[in-house]
Amino acid sequence: MGVLDGKVAIVTGAGRGIGREIALHMAGEGAAVVVNDLGGAADGSGASPVADEVAKEIEGAGGRAAASRDSVATVEGGRAIFQTALDAFGAADILVNNAGILRDRTLFKMEEEDWDVVMAVHLKGHYCCTRPFAQYVRESKRRGCRILNFSSVSGLFGNFGQSNYGAAKGGIAAFSRVLALELAKYGCTVNTISPGAATRLTLPLAEGRGETVDVEDPTRGPAQIAPVCTWLASPAAQEITGQIINVMRGTVGIMQQPAVIKSFSNDHLWTLEELDQVIPALAEAKAEHDARVTEAGEPEPIG
Ligand SMILES: NC(=O)c1ccc[n+]([C@@H]2O[C@H](COP(=O)([O-])OP(=O)(O)OC[C@H]3O[C@@H](n4cnc5c(N)ncnc54)[C@H](O)[C@@H]3O)[C@@H](O)[C@H]2O)c1
Repeated sequence: MGVLDGKVAIVTGAGRGIGREIALHMAGEGAAVVVNDLGGAADGSGASPVADEVAKEIEGAGGRAAASRDSVATVEGGRAIFQTALDAFGAADILVNNAGILRDRTLFKMEEEDWDVVMAVHLKGHYCCTRPFAQYVRESKRRGCRILNFSSVSGLFGNFGQSNYGAAKGGIAAFSRVLALELAKYGCTVNTISPGAATRLTLPLAEGRGETVDVEDPTRGPAQIAPVCTWLASPAAQEITGQIINVMRGTVGIMQQPAVIKSFSNDHLWTLEELDQVIPALAEAKAEHDARVTEAGEPEPIG
């Protein structure tokens, strides 16, 4: 008995890294899995049959899987990925929008193509794969469906040299908040993962900092993300929606969403003299809030 028995999951970018671990874990919990991956390089160029390899691995372990080599970055690709689930398993319950690439450059050096291709895979990719799934949820009246989107601290906090990726990942968090509202009445939850794991996307950055990372370490490798995704996809998570869950270095946390921390009101147009008082007071309140949240967010040991 698995927590995803009878469910059909679509996992994009599941040929490697975090997506592969999610596909294997969900299959281990009973889901039939569409293993999607274009199989390109970390910068999005090229293609290879990594999806087929992971699908075979799942089948070899006694699970059910179907491979898809379509790109998430086009509307046709998104439709084809979704259709793979219907053709192979006759239904769809879970969509994990995990596929991703990097084209890191400072804005000074960022060419239009670096911007466009990152937007296409990440932000547009979420649209392309989610739209057919969401329409299906509405039309089929299938209950208990799940969407997991992939953001990043790069977009939520900001990271030097990643204005394209950060903008896409920030956009994905916003996309998720809206979608959680739009799909609530169909009983479909929409949550966002902010992961941190040693994969081909992040290992070069760690190496650049002079760090040696053990990818088999359960607190560093991509496998740590998978059980959290499976739980969020399971019936136990029916009441959890519109959240950003941060999973990294063996921790699982919930992230703050944009909120007004302090405000002042007025019955006339703000004068510049009033703003001399008000804006510094707001900045001070924000600094106090940030200090409180940083302390409250320190991981607590479990058990
Ligand atoms: N690893 C981290 O620490 C980290 C941190 C923040 C966010 N993320 C996000 O997590 C997700 C997974 O990243 P990862 O670290 O496992 O990277 P990864 O490179 O190991 O895996 C990503 C997979 O997506 C596939 N892919 C890329 N473009 C595709 C396309 N157009 N269509 C279908 N598949 C495509 C790649 O072929 C690759 O196998 C990404 O969205 C990434 O931005 C990762």
